[in-house]
Amino acid sequence: MTTSLSIPIVPIAQSKLKGLSLENLPFGKYFTDHMLEADYVNGKWTSIAIRPYASLSLAPSMAAIHYGQAIFEGIKAYKDQQSKPFIFRPHDNFVRFNLSAERMQMPTVPDEIFMEGMMQLVKLDQDWIPTISDHSLYIRPFMFSTDELLGVRPSDSYKFMIILSPTGPYYSAPMRIWVEEKYVRAVSGGVGYAKAAGNYGGAMYATAQAKLRGYDQVLWTDPYEHKYVQECGTMNVFFIIGNKAITPGLEEGTILGGVTRMSAMTLLEEMGLTMEERKLGMDEILDAYKSGELREVFGTGTAATVSLIKELHYKDETLQFDLDKWEVAPALKEKLSAIREGKTADTHGWMIPVI
Ligand code: COI
Repeated sequence: MTTSLSIPIVPIAQSKLKGLSLENLPFGKYFTDHMLEADYVNGKWTSIAIRPYASLSLAPSMAAIHYGQAIFEGIKAYKDQQSKPFIFRPHDNFVRFNLSAERMQMPTVPDEIFMEGMMQLVKLDQDWIPTISDHSLYIRPFMFSTDELLGVRPSDSYKFMIILSPTGPYYSAPMRIWVEEKYVRAVSGGVGYAKAAGNYGGAMYATAQAKLRGYDQVLWTDPYEHKYVQECGTMNVFFIIGNKAITPGLEEGTILGGVTRMSAMTLLEEMGLTMEERKLGMDEILDAYKSGELREVFGTGTAATVSLIKELHYKDETLQFDLDKWEVAPALKEKLSAIREGKTADTHGWMIPVI
């Protein structure tokens, strides 16, 4: 990481933290004292500053509102057992952010704004990092187009920001999942692999339909046969079949390359499972369920961490799981939390100190 930029800080007069308990927090509802803001104008990043968290004043003609050039990331900060702040694999999110930027025809954000800005912001607001289990400081970098113009073309100007939210678990209870066979999230050649805001907006209708039927989220399938599984809600998905851990591969560009997904793949192999990253069809899942080989299904994500799936509904079939018998997902969650909370050695170099 380069450390060439000194980012001006305008501190808040009085912290909002007093009186707020950092326990039992809902996801993404509270925001810390400060935020980072930078503008891209005339081909250059300018006006980089950390200032008190506040509303923005934006033109109604601002391009992002109309045409959706908007991307984001999700990263988490923790405190170790000595109360020192660390961020989980921020560089991987930085790389993915710029991949999303490229796909959405937006400028990339340099290391010294994204990484250094994030470090300085988290350092400033480190008292907001919760220390109880399943809690963390959620870091939300995002960028959107700011040209005031209704013509459909890439904007010339952009705003990059980072905000921070002390937060609890995203999905708190084991989920019932509807395997989606009508609506699609992503197609090959599309933007499924990018963390584009529209991917989330586009998922809301199908998710609401699933909720009306009593399910918590949808499991997306491929757009051609509705057979091969993609992602689940806001998560990557893993199936434990026999001694194999199987997760859909990234080669078609329809799936977000999750940082928690990558970490889970590493840890599952260390736990002695054979990791397979490949196409996985509902027929194979159903056969494995019927033969008793399908042991566990779970999702992974920055917000979701490791979230258990207790039921899958596919066509006329209901696949139900007895969570009391599960071993892999709880052990994976435990291992990941122990690394993040500094309770076990971080042998992979995933925890980056905030200094
Ligand atoms: C994350 O896991 O950070 C996500 O992006 C999910 C989010 C949309 C809540």
